[in-house]
Amino acid sequence: MSRLPALFLFAAGCCLVVGTGLGIAMGMAHDFHLAPVHAHLNLVGWTTLALMGLTYRAWPQLAEARVLAPLQFTLSAGSAVAFPAGIYVSIEHEAPGLAIGAALVFLAGALLFLARLLPLVLARRPAMALAAAE
Ligand code: HEM
Repeated sequence: MSRLPALFLFAAGCCLVVGTGLGIAMGMAHDFHLAPVHAHLNLVGWTTLALMGLTYRAWPQLAEARVLAPLQFTLSAGSAVAFPAGIYVSIEHEAPGLAIGAALVFLAGALLFLARLLPLVLARRPAMALAAAE
């Protein structure tokens, strides 16, 4: 079985730990100006990456594509970390370049994820859809 679901979940768990830590730090300091960084680490990082990992676990044939599956992981997991980092830089230094670039990469990963789900939706027998296509 592919390690991709575990990789997605591990990346998601890393975001959860850092995002939660930031939430606790904000609460203790009563300083919430980094709340958007915390929210996006948790929602783009933890929630979205975990759902992608569980999707690859539910349809293991999605993870069998040797190029597209690792590419989608790289785009989504890389930008899920870079995007909150970009929001931080944007808040602290008024430089939104990293946030904008990472958001576009995250969108590319989401589009690739969606495109790879399409055969599952269109197939009469979803379990066979990608196996037949590859
Ligand atoms: C121990 C865990 C957590 C702590 C201590 C925590 C703490 C906080 C704090 C202090 C705020 C700012 C509130 C304010 O601006 O008045 C916040 C906002 C937020 N948190 Fe968390 N949080 C935790 C977990 C999570 C998780 C797991 C998620 C999502 C999966 C999440 C999503 C959000 C969102 C969406 C916001 C609103 C951000 C905004 O208004 O810009 N949090 N959290």
